[in-house]
Amino acid sequence: MMEARFKDRVAIITGGAGGIGAAIAARLRAEGAAALIADLDSAAAQATAGKMGGAALGFGCDVGAEDQVAACVQAALDRFGRLDIIVNNAGLMSFKTLAEWSGDDWMKVLRVDLLGAAFFTKQAFLHFGSKGGAIVNIASVHAMETSANAAPYAAAKAAMLSLTRSTAIEGRDVAIRANAVLPGAIDTPMLWNNPNVKSGAETIDKRDVGTPANIAAAVAFLASDDAAFITGASLAVDGGRLARL
Ligand SMILES: NC(=O)c1ccc[n+]([C@@H]2O[C@H](COP(=O)([O-])OP(=O)(O)OC[C@H]3O[C@@H](n4cnc5c(N)ncnc54)[C@H](O)[C@@H]3O)[C@@H](O)[C@H]2O)c1
Repeated sequence: MMEARFKDRVAIITGGAGGIGAAIAARLRAEGAAALIADLDSAAAQATAGKMGGAALGFGCDVGAEDQVAACVQAALDRFGRLDIIVNNAGLMSFKTLAEWSGDDWMKVLRVDLLGAAFFTKQAFLHFGSKGGAIVNIASVHAMETSANAAPYAAAKAAMLSLTRSTAIEGRDVAIRANAVLPGAIDTPMLWNNPNVKSGAETIDKRDVGTPANIAAAVAFLASDDAAFITGASLAVDGGRLARL
């Protein structure tokens, strides 16, 4: 039988209370990791962690607030004694035309979808220690191609790929790997609440819809030692959607 890839490893999964993040946490737990589920919704994070057994902890954290990110990492260290994996999955998507977005609107999206990942990346460099570790950033196919009315989201996700490359470069000498996953259309409320999808402006072929477990499998690979020589990479997990004209 295959050995548990994350035995004795500790992971933080942001936005892990539901959707894709919860599937990632469940997959890492199933392969032996202890998991801290960090989410703006503290009660939901604790409820999700509660279903995953003793080595799971739910923690309320706004990823856009640097002090809360530091407190979250400290909570993982206090509870589990080490930190090996960070999955930057928390995200939000808002919809307005380019003429409508205010500076505040832009910042609301950028602080969660980009700065949240940057703050956790900083903590990785501070706390992974000499053993190093792995960061997986959950971007989106919107990092490469996008649709109308989602400019801040697309910009933040594109910037996340750049952050991934910077992390790979600076991480090389301290054994920190960083990779990005670009989910396509994944069956969560975020997909079906998308007004472009609701209005039919963005059509979704059923064959293009993947599951949170599809994303979790890719994340587990990139976080594991199976991906020891993969860093700075971007992996689309989209059923081939980006490949099509
Ligand atoms: N569902 C899709 O089709 C799809 C496609 C591409 C990319 N993604 C990306 O995957 C990730 C997860 O998406 P999902 O579909 O599971 O969405 P979701 O809305 O179900 O989950 C997002 C989670 O992030 C949390 N969150 C929001 N703001 C936060 C903050 N400031 N601090 C901490 N947590 C916060 C929410 O409470 C929620 O639990 C997101 O980054 C999203 O952009 C999703």
